[in-house]
Formats: sequence, structure tokens, C-alpha cells
Amino acid sequence: MAALPAPCSLTLGALYSRQPQAGEDGQLQPIDATTRIKPEEGLELLRLARDLQAGALLEIGLAYGFSTQFLLASLVPRGGRLMALDPFQSSDWHGVGRGLAERTAAALSRDPASGAPVRFQWLSEPSHRGLPALEAAGERFDLIFIDGYHRFDDVLIDVTLAARLCRPGGVIVLHDLWLPSVRSVVAFLESNRADLERLPTRCRNLGVFRLRGEDQRNWDHFVPFASASEIWLDQA
Ligand SMILES: C[S@@+](CC[C@H](N)C(=O)[O-])C[C@H]1O[C@@H](n2cnc3c(N)ncnc32)[C@H](O)[C@@H]1O
Repeated sequence: MAALPAPCSLTLGALYSRQPQAGEDGQLQPIDATTRIKPEEGLELLRLARDLQAGALLEIGLAYGFSTQFLLASLVPRGGRLMALDPFQSSDWHGVGRGLAERTAAALSRDPASGAPVRFQWLSEPSHRGLPALEAAGERFDLIFIDGYHRFDDVLIDVTLAARLCRPGGVIVLHDLWLPSVRSVVAFLESNRADLERLPTRCRNLGVFRLRGEDQRNWDHFVPFASASEIWLDQA
């Protein structure tokens, strides 16, 4: 964590030690112990984004913004932008993740040692509405992190729409493979989406896919796949 730019490592230190954070109304809000990615998962996101030299990042599911801080760190020193979709940022999370991300992006952009400017943007839209709107606007991203609603069909919709927004050669990362719902989406992708190549990762709770190119399946293509039923014992 020490290798991260100071604004990110300081914020993550405070979040992982569950120090209450200011919400958008100025009140201190408690940080719960479960709504977050693990440090090793964040570092893997950082590595993936840096290896890709990604300048345009998208995440679905902001909450307190643990993943957001790692993704912002990956933009230093090249600069770039991170967009986060979350319709419940104000209602459920008191704007904590958004406020922290905006302050981190501003601090990184202020410091000449951090390199080119880093931008953060929050869209208060559910993914099933926000992702098509971004596609219609011609947006494209190098890395898309999916950590929103975790039911099978929601995750499948997220990854289907995300693939339409991903640049060829870009990467889509799914979080929470400990859940049978998410592992079932991964099983579908591996057996049906030849345009999405699964990449090895150090974190078995992450599913990492690279977009090879166009989806060239026939209109009636379908390969049966095995859905995951068992629960992981070492749950995230
Ligand atoms: C597990 S949390 C995300 C944690 C975050 N990635 C982190 O590491 O700190 C899931 C988030 O998804 C958001 N969410 C739920 N349904 C969503 C939807 N349909 N579209 C976008 N975000 C959604 C929730 O409000 C919540 O903030």
C-alpha cells in the first residue's frame, strides 16, 4: 500500500481501519467492515490497470470507494479519468465514496509530482440505464470493474453491457466470485463468449476477462454451461 500515491494510501489507510468519514451533509459516517474489496484485490486492479496503461476507467458500485482509490492510483502519473456508476451513493452511502474520490482526484491533480490530471466523475444511475447511455454517447473504457448488484441476471446484464463499452484489448473485472451467482456468470462467459478471454489472476475472488474483438456469435448461439452452486468456504 505504501507504493500508492499519498492521497490514495492515506485514504485507504483510514478506510481499512474504519475511521468514520464525512458524508455529503458534513456528518461523520461509520464505515462497515464488509462493503469493500480486499487490499490484495485492490492491488491486483492497480496492476491490471497499470499494465494496460489504462487512461479511461469505469466502475459499477462505488459505496465507500475502496476500489475507487486503487483505480485512481493507477492513473498516476499518466493521468486519465475514472467514472463510477451508483444510484445509491447518496441514499445508502451518504456520499462518502464520492467525496473521498473527488478529494483524492483533486489532490493528485494539484501535485505536479503526480503527473497529468486525474478526473473522477460519479453518475447516479443504475447500471442497466447508465451503461447503455454511455454507449450511446460514444464512451469507451480500457478497464471496467463490476461490483454492483450481485444477482446472476444483474451481473450478466452488467458484463454484457460493459463488453459493448470496452475497447478491444481492454479488460473487464468481476468481483465476488465467492458468490455462486457471479461464478455462474463466469461459467457462461467462458463457455459462450469467445470474444472474452479469461486471464489468470492472483486473486481467485476476481474474474478477469480481456476483450479480444467483436462478438461474432450467430443469433441463436448457445453453449450449455454449468451454474455454480456450492459456497466457497473461505468466503470474502
Ligand atoms: C459491494 S458495493 C461496492 C464496493 C466498492 N466497489 C468498494 O470496493 O468499495 C456494491 C455497490 O453497488 C451499488 N449498486 C447496487 N445496485 C447497483 C446498480 N444497479 N448499478 C450500480 N451500482 C449499484 C451499491 O449502492 C453499492 O454501493
